[in-house]
This record gives sequence, structure tokens and C-alpha cells, in this order.
Amino acid sequence: MNMSENTVLITGGGSGIGRGLAEAFYRLGNQVIIAGRRQVVLDQVAAANPGMRTIQLDIDNPDAVKEFGKKFAVEFPGLNVLINNAGIQRVENLLAQPPDLETIQATFTTNLLGPIRVTAALLPLLIRQEQSTIINVTSGLAFVPGSAVPSYCASKAAMHSYTLSLRQQLRNTTTAVIELIPPYVQTDLGPSHGNDPRAMKLSDFVDEAMMIILKDPTTTEIVVERCRHLRFAAETGTFDATFKWLNNGMA
Ligand SMILES: NC(=O)c1ccc[n+]([C@@H]2O[C@H](COP(=O)([O-])OP(=O)(O)OC[C@H]3O[C@@H](n4cnc5c(N)ncnc54)[C@H](OP(=O)(O)O)[C@@H]3O)[C@@H](O)[C@H]2O)c1
Repeated sequence: MNMSENTVLITGGGSGIGRGLAEAFYRLGNQVIIAGRRQVVLDQVAAANPGMRTIQLDIDNPDAVKEFGKKFAVEFPGLNVLINNAGIQRVENLLAQPPDLETIQATFTTNLLGPIRVTAALLPLLIRQEQSTIINVTSGLAFVPGSAVPSYCASKAAMHSYTLSLRQQLRNTTTAVIELIPPYVQTDLGPSHGNDPRAMKLSDFVDEAMMIILKDPTTTEIVVERCRHLRFAAETGTFDATFKWLNNGMA
């Protein structure tokens, strides 16, 4: 993908990794549009980055996503980069009674159905561009699950699988598909993420991720150094040891 002069839509662009990517693409000379549920948060980011645009969107709502797709195509007909970044993570106790089915449903709705619906709504627009890219944000936990957040890990593993199929089905189009696989990063995703010294600093993560695409614009996966042990655990025969390390003392 080219790194400038694109029209880039980032879901969940009002905070954390989405905001970091939005600002990085903005600085490189792209038209950036950020979407999310909290308009006030989106407005703060837009105010700090004049010219950045915002759209309020709840990716959990199928009708809203369809409507969004139609309006977006009229307002931003040049869309050529979609970053499916919005996501949630909740801790679950699978032994709880009654079982917390609401959390399971919410997690799959936002992390899996959400990006699938947004992609479906915008794909007709993306594939008619001379060159376009879909970046799906999964997680190192798609490859080695952290048992405290089981539905989160399962939703990201499913998103990894969907991304492989999407790339294969789009192989004869002008749309490339990239998977961005973050490690543990300091954001507001979970209650302890933001100030946990074991998590990667957000700006370091965004810088390294952007550098990977800048160095190899044809890459299919963006895996920063700190995530390689998770992403390649199965391939390097270290899955069991990594699973144990990750889940030591966890639920
Ligand atoms: N931080 C990590 O350690 C880590 C590791 C691996 C992967 N990731 C992935 O990175 C992505 C970004 O997460 P983050 O860490 O940056 O956390 P974050 O700051 O909480 O960002 C999540 C964003 O998603 C948006 N969002 C959530 N539900 C939404 C919905 N229904 N509709 C539209 N937007 C929605 C939120 O905005 P609103 O609340 O305003 O809607 C928020 O801006 C997620 O997919 C996450 O799974 C994070």
C-alpha cells in the first residue's frame, strides 16, 4: 500500500491504537476519517488534528452499518484504506452461574460481526479503487489464548481466519488485506492496560507497526517484535510453553 494520499477510515479511531494509527496516517498526508460511538472523544482527536473527519458509528448495529456504508460512499468516494480496529475486551469467569452470556454475545458482536459488517458495507467501494487496502486488527491472543478473556481470544482467532479467507477471495482484485497483530499495548482496552508497565508503550507500538508497512508495503501481516513469540508460537514449537507462561496464575 502507498502510505500517503489515501482516504483512510479507522473504526475505533478516537482512542488507543486506533487514534495512534489515525494520527500516524494523518501526519503522512492522508485524509483520515475516524469512527466510533463517543462523538465527544472523536471531536477531541479531530480538534488536535485539523482536517481529520469524524463519524459516529456503532458497529454493533447492523442497520446503522448498512446506512453508514451508503452515506460514506457518497461523502468519501475515494475511500481506499479501511482499518477495522474497533474492539472490546471483557474478563469472563466461565464457571459463573448464571453464565455471562451477555458478555460472550457482546464480544463476538463487536470484535467479529462488527468488522465483517463494516467490510461488507464498504467492499463495493474499496474494490473499485485503483488500489485499496483492508487492515484487520486482531491480537497476539488470537494465536495463544489468555484464559481470563476467552471470548475475546476466540473472537480474534475467528477474525484471523476470516482475514485469511477475505485475502484469498480478493486475490484477483485491487484490494490487499493486511492483518495487524498487536501485543499487549498500553490503552484503555482493559482496566489495567493503560498503566501496566508490562504492556508496550502505545507510541512505540504505532511507530514500529507503521515502520513495518513503510519498509514492506506488500506485507500481509504486521507483527512487532514483542508479539512474535505469540504469533509464531505454533510454528516454532513453543505453543505449550507460551500458553503456560501467559496463563500462569490466571483464571
Ligand atoms: N491494547 C492491547 O493490548 C491490544 C492488544 C491486541 C489487540 N488489540 C486490539 O486493538 C484494537 C483497539 O483497541 P485499543 O487497545 O486501542 O483499546 P481502546 O482504546 O479501548 O479502543 C477501542 C476502540 O473501539 C471503539 N469501539 C468499541 N466498540 C465499538 C462499537 N460497537 N462501535 C464502534 N466503535 C467501537 C471504542 O470507541 P467507542 O467506545 O467510542 O465506540 C474505542 O475507540 C481492538 O480491536 C483490540 O482488540 C489491543
